Amino acid sequence: MTAERITAIEVIHDEHRALAAILNGLSSIVRDIEGGKLEPDYTLLASMIEYISEMPDKLHHPKEDRIFALLRTKTGEVNEHLDRLEADHRATTHATGLLDRALVSYVQGGVAGFPGFRDAVRTYVADEWVHLNTEERHILPVVRRLFSADEWEAIGAEFVRNGDPWSGPENRYADLFKRITSLAPAPIGVGGGPSR
Ligand SMILES: [Fe+2]
Ligand SMILES: [Fe+2]
Repeated sequence: MTAERITAIEVIHDEHRALAAILNGLSSIVRDIEGGKLEPDYTLLASMIEYISEMPDKLHHPKEDRIFALLRTKTGEVNEHLDRLEADHRATTHATGLLDRALVSYVQGGVAGFPGFRDAVRTYVADEWVHLNTEERHILPVVRRLFSADEWEAIGAEFVRNGDPWSGPENRYADLFKRITSLAPAPIGVGGGPSR
């Protein structure tokens, strides 16, 4: 099970891509607000934070936790990474709560609230990149090597029931994503936005 496509791993990659699109979008918007190229669109920012608060917890982490648990039965070679990643998953609500509160302060404080929001976004995005890269570089190659075809089949069957990161369970995220992509200025979305 090394070279061929493994559906469950493709699913994880796809969810990482969806998350990365939002993380890149948030970073770019914050940079453009700071550079005076963009007026803050609080609805858009709230939609993006809502997505990164909900999708990972509801869709993504349960899948990874399932993979991590099976991986622990096969090897101890990546336990340190797994300890850290599982702790990150448990801390998701706390981390996104900080972002949420920083946005509320920004909405209430206007320009004076921007630095706090900017710093909260930077910290969150930097931590998330470390997390995503650890999974992509240190975990997925190992699970690709160690899991059997039967195990992948069982995991893949469970994953299919969950929906994808662009639509989610019962299509719940499709509207949110559409809103994010239509509101965000190019090249994040298709809306053109308030860029000047
Ligand atoms: Fe994760
Ligand atoms: Fe992940």
